[in-house]
Amino acid sequence: ISIYKFDDNFMTLYRTELVRYLTEDLGFKAENVVVQDGKGDQAEQTNQINNFITQKYDVLILNLVQASSAPEITDMCKEAGIPVVYINREPDEAEEQRWVDEKINATYVGCDARQSGTYQGEEILETETKGDINGDGKVSYIMIQGDPENVDAQYRTEFSVKALTDAGVEVEELLKQRGDWDQAKAQQIAQDALNQYGDKIDVVFCNNDAMALGALQAIEAAGRTVNKDIYLVGVDALVEVVENVMNDKMTGTVFNDYFGQAHTAADKALDFVNGKDVDNVYMVDYVKVTTENAGDILEMIK
Ligand code: GAL
Repeated sequence: ISIYKFDDNFMTLYRTELVRYLTEDLGFKAENVVVQDGKGDQAEQTNQINNFITQKYDVLILNLVQASSAPEITDMCKEAGIPVVYINREPDEAEEQRWVDEKINATYVGCDARQSGTYQGEEILETETKGDINGDGKVSYIMIQGDPENVDAQYRTEFSVKALTDAGVEVEELLKQRGDWDQAKAQQIAQDALNQYGDKIDVVFCNNDAMALGALQAIEAAGRTVNKDIYLVGVDALVEVVENVMNDKMTGTVFNDYFGQAHTAADKALDFVNGKDVDNVYMVDYVKVTTENAGDILEMIK
């Protein structure tokens, strides 16, 4: 297993569950499950994967630093006769189709990020003011993006706003900036935006919860109050964020089901090893988190 970087809240939950499931539920010995940190550096991660290949591991589960490296990595694994399960960072469609056309033992397990974006937009539409909390007739927002090379960041950005415009709501983008999934970066971006745009901002969209927590710090420091004079949504359903949604401190989030993704990834890895047929793509559903179901979600993740 190689994770794009260990220093990522969501991927840490995912990685922990993946190892737990492989060892406790599927019966792998701990010493047979090796997990490495890609440290956010594709060259370094490619080296690690080369080492995995030299050591003749039976199957690889890879969370690439750059999804665009999938064709190269897939060919390396194919040469060595080692199947690969990609997770979390989706290779492009042409690459996924190539696995089918060339009968390559590779698959992707993830979620359709369009769904999470749409749910974020719907959460804003479901607020009392349909997102226009300052009442000036349009929904003005700032968008704090993940790593824009990542399709999760691209789709969440596009589809959150699309949910609003599809519902006939007028929108205005005040700012769109990359926060690389990182809490501290997002806090800075939100702080600067609040200074610059003040009450004009109705909504802070964050591509993930770590960044939403950063934005929340900036919002509170600026003397603003979520759901009273500004809305804030994220994605992932980190425990702290789900608690904040329950306590009316954040508007909403979307559960990025790392249980479902980790289990499917491990099951498909085992299927490859056992010579079973494996499709090229498996998608796990996101779940919208609102005040109504936040308690149930919390029970599952705590
Ligand atoms: C996303 C997740 C982010 C970050 C990213 C890494 O699905 O929402 O928090 O972990 O994956 O690729």
